[in-house]
Amino acid sequence: MRAKREFTVRLRLHVNIYDTAKSQFTVPSSVVELQSGSQAIQKNNSDLIFNYSPSPFAFWITRSSEPDAQPLFDTRASSLPPTPIPPVISTDNTTALDAFPLIFEDQYLQLTSALPLGANIYGLGEVVASSGFRRDVGTNGGNGTIQTMWARDIADPIDQNIYGSHSIYMEHRYNETSRRSQTHGVFLFSSAGSDILLLTPPSSNVSLIEYRLIGGTLDFYFFSGPSPQKVIEQYGELVGLPTWQPAWAFGFHLCRWGYTTVNETKEQVTKMREANIPLEVMWNDIDLYHAVRDFTSDPVSFPADEMRSFIRELASNNQHYIPIVDAAVAKQINSTDIYDPYTRGTELDVFVKNPNSTEYVGQVWPGYTVFPDWFSENAQKYWTEALTNWSNSGIEFSGIWLDMNEASSFCDGSCGTGANLSNTTAPFILPGDPGGEVTNYPEGYNSTISGPSGNITVNGTLTYGAGESTDSTLSKRGLGAGGQKDVDLNTPPYAIHNGNGRLSLHALATNATHAGGYVELDTHNLWGMMEEKATHLALQSLHPGKRPFLISRSTFPSSGKWTGHWLGDNFSKWQYMYFNIQGVLQFQLFQIPMVGADTCGFNDNTDEELCGRWMQLSAFMPFYRNHNERGALSQEPYRWDSVANASRTAMNVRYSMLPYWYTLFANASQFGAPPVRALFYEFPDEPELFGIDQQYLIGRDILITPVLTPNVSTVDGIFPGRGRVIWRDWYTHNVVNSSTDGSPTTLSAPLGHINVHIRDGSAILLHGQPAYTVAETRQGPYSLLVSQAADGFAFGTAYIDDGESIPPTPSRTIEFHAVKGSLKISGSGSFALQETLETVTVLGVGNTEKRPTTVSVQEKEVSGWEYVPAQQKLVLSGLGLSLNHNLTITWS
Ligand code: GLC
Repeated sequence: MRAKREFTVRLRLHVNIYDTAKSQFTVPSSVVELQSGSQAIQKNNSDLIFNYSPSPFAFWITRSSEPDAQPLFDTRASSLPPTPIPPVISTDNTTALDAFPLIFEDQYLQLTSALPLGANIYGLGEVVASSGFRRDVGTNGGNGTIQTMWARDIADPIDQNIYGSHSIYMEHRYNETSRRSQTHGVFLFSSAGSDILLLTPPSSNVSLIEYRLIGGTLDFYFFSGPSPQKVIEQYGELVGLPTWQPAWAFGFHLCRWGYTTVNETKEQVTKMREANIPLEVMWNDIDLYHAVRDFTSDPVSFPADEMRSFIRELASNNQHYIPIVDAAVAKQINSTDIYDPYTRGTELDVFVKNPNSTEYVGQVWPGYTVFPDWFSENAQKYWTEALTNWSNSGIEFSGIWLDMNEASSFCDGSCGTGANLSNTTAPFILPGDPGGEVTNYPEGYNSTISGPSGNITVNGTLTYGAGESTDSTLSKRGLGAGGQKDVDLNTPPYAIHNGNGRLSLHALATNATHAGGYVELDTHNLWGMMEEKATHLALQSLHPGKRPFLISRSTFPSSGKWTGHWLGDNFSKWQYMYFNIQGVLQFQLFQIPMVGADTCGFNDNTDEELCGRWMQLSAFMPFYRNHNERGALSQEPYRWDSVANASRTAMNVRYSMLPYWYTLFANASQFGAPPVRALFYEFPDEPELFGIDQQYLIGRDILITPVLTPNVSTVDGIFPGRGRVIWRDWYTHNVVNSSTDGSPTTLSAPLGHINVHIRDGSAILLHGQPAYTVAETRQGPYSLLVSQAADGFAFGTAYIDDGESIPPTPSRTIEFHAVKGSLKISGSGSFALQETLETVTVLGVGNTEKRPTTVSVQEKEVSGWEYVPAQQKLVLSGLGLSLNHNLTITWS
């Protein structure tokens, strides 16, 4: 963090193409409250210019700073190729599109923009992209991309829609002549099911982005950047900044589907302690439940009293407990089988309905289920009550894990009503079953992609895609202020490329009805986010003044205000460890920075080597949890000696770095700055970095180069800065001999070692004594690591508060500022630190000819220091300095 934060004008441009009757569905402001932005309206200062031609309507966005450059966004027919047959859709038998008209109909909207050929596009998800973090636009041998936005419960297939829907992308443009780059962002604010295509027609000199929506309006926001970080911050300013995380959230979390009793759960806590591997939070999956029902604990395997004392014991050891909450609430089938969360919900009228106003019944783990309707008046009351009752019953959780909230349901549409529900279960439709569910798994799994096709013709008439029903029975739906319209709720005329095939398969049916006349077709992508908000508010009422901690599967723009995220049901495969990095980078852009993968892999058996490498990688990710499915091998880090060692080593670094993580997250919650960064965010003018997602940065200063393949003991990594930046090894403090042309350096990486490097010009506050838990670590002394640039400069900040109260709360921001021969520490804020600064390590001091001979603290010469010439390292120890005062350390 070299420079102080500048408050530059954060500019954005809003282009909303809507129906004048306002009868199309738009996301109500009570659901997502977009922020007007402090300085968003300063039109005269804006770098973004809106240009348009009235007939046929087209618009294009340019930068005033680069008037001659290709527009950032351009829907003019003249900017688009004349006869494109985009490869990405030709496989679907699509008739050639001979133009890219802007279409705005009730159930089909389309808009196409030209992009520079081979544009660097990031974002649009949630997805596991075979192309990596940078998306495939159909150049360099790629087929292009169809990113479908339709929240979907599926074990992480490649290149298909999964749990979250985020139609924000960032384009990073590099000018070969000036060798400078600028970045901008484009956000479509819509919850409509949609396909977003990235493609390059043959012989075209432009690439394209095409939006195909099955409802809503074309509501675009453009962010001027001009750096990647600024784009992300500008997007955060619009959709809302991430929630503040409690300090304990950064500890290690252990979970699995298959801890079948309280004793088995306790045993994990004991074994982790015995192995001396830090454990901060113990989790339970649905095994906890009685009859797999939310808000219960099984009276035999998880007796409530035992759970209460277990959780209290955890708390007395500064540890925490988190249980799962599934989206669907079990339906009580008969009157002898009382289940309060169902009866109370019925009484409060909070469940989703069928079009004829009867209760909508689906099916998930417990059998038949109903689904909270977050639009209903009493939903918040119901949810807060349910969580509070559960906590009072003995499950005294610190945080909540929200699952299956796409929302998943295993019937094909509604499971029916009345008489045909006499059985307690209906046939499950699960992955691989006939019925249209389509997967694209890694090798060894089903790898067929045969999704529905999305044919359209250009004259405004819609045709149906092959494999889709041509049933066009019209249903009514309530649509915003304009009242009701005749639209096809069940089979919208354009079939988006939902990996599950029909939209109602393995999900709430599209004609399910919400309070206010809203239908699932329009609101499907919002369900998870609305549940997150309700849960966040419930936790606030249950634990007043404390920061709620949630991890959730299905997300939407603004979810970061309420929750963190895990990357869902991945596979115990090396490839998925690599995908972990792009997943975490995506969610930084989506403003949901507290994110991580199921470490060691969820589906299938992991192995010792993979698990060891992955435990080390995830120690450098925001959310750090090991979790797997019930059928797979146990994979707790203590199971193998090598994994235990690797975990202890990496966790030791993680826990010492907690003040750094905490500061990055404070910057995320205050300014929207992404804690985890792709290399090009910090080095935007180095094209060799634009496609790098095997390495990443934590903040500005820490570079992670993990091993992502088996059977190796070295790893290649690029050291950004082309030789102008000094990178030092975290463990040895040796300077890396990196290349000046951006080519990779080979690093030693034996099992149990993850490469971590420190950028020059940095000053990082650390915990000096990493302990078993975050609380104990925070009670220890601080140390400071300063990595000077060649001219002696270094700068860093640290944000500190009590780690749990919701801001505004007393805090202290400390600045560390080194120039040649001196280090100044100054702070502001009302929070008083109890712990002292014990050690200061300054790298890059002196050289073989000129070593320091005198070291002073507050102008008084001290003797407790040593100098290590090999690393040009000055180490001051035993300092006992209060960080509540300004300090000066000098050496000469
Ligand atoms: C879903 C979740 C997974 C969980 C399982 C059982 O597949 O994604 O994490 O273990 O359900 O609850």
